[in-house]
Amino acid sequence: MQMNLTLSFFPEDSVLAFASGERNLYTALKNEEDLSGYVIHTAYENLDLIPSSALMSSIEYEFFKRQQGERVLAGLLEVLRQKGEYDYILMDAPPTLGSWVTNILCASDYVILPVEASPWGLFGVANMFEFLEDRKRLAPDLALLGMVITKVDARKNYGRQTMEVLKEFEEVRVFDTIIRVDSEIEWAQDNSRPVMAYKKSARSAGEYLELAKEVEKYVRGSRQH
Ligand SMILES: Nc1ncnc2c1ncn2[C@@H]1O[C@H](COP(=O)(O)OP(=O)(O)OP(=O)(O)O)[C@@H](O)[C@H]1O
Ligand SMILES: [Mg+2]
Repeated sequence: MQMNLTLSFFPEDSVLAFASGERNLYTALKNEEDLSGYVIHTAYENLDLIPSSALMSSIEYEFFKRQQGERVLAGLLEVLRQKGEYDYILMDAPPTLGSWVTNILCASDYVILPVEASPWGLFGVANMFEFLEDRKRLAPDLALLGMVITKVDARKNYGRQTMEVLKEFEEVRVFDTIIRVDSEIEWAQDNSRPVMAYKKSARSAGEYLELAKEVEKYVRGSRQH
């Protein structure tokens, strides 16, 4: 709803133009339109996105008002999925556990759970597990691919503590890759670019690349079964 992801790929004036126009996720959901007509090419090879809108903040209310079910998004994504043009469709979910996130889960094959290396980050994990467990009724094939520890501050010990606590959830994978705090991420945001494009040599760019490789490895592995 803050359009952060869209702002990572386009300058602010373009993002505001997408948001105030018709070409955004909120409009698609509101009109219940097939999402393939809402895709925008980015400046990066093989990377497209559907722009967000500040109105996404009222999406819960829209679902509630219209008594829409949990499979609306899955339905609107179907054409894109069937076309098979994309290897991965990534959905950035808000931390609010309601019908919008339920729709995202029902439209997904896997969940990746980022956990901030802080006491409050850990606090959210148990809640999230409970929510995922409950949603299994609606999305029985959904798999939790793993948890990724992020924003680890080298000057503090909490990264190790976070790792130890998460390892106690034995049935859930913790990714080997850890994302550390890196101010280059903020500079990249300041430039409306992903860190990988802003500064490929940045530590976090390397870490995110490693994470992507791990994701690919586990997805491949799970498809072979
Ligand atoms: N590895 C990092 N190093 C430095 N800063 C970071 C890092 N990761 C995230 N940040 C900063 O923290 C902010 C929040 O990060 P991000 O948007 O990824 O979190 P979020 O959990 O998705 O937040 P929200 O709940 O608002 O969606 C970002 O604006 C960014 O500036
Ligand atoms: Mg977010």
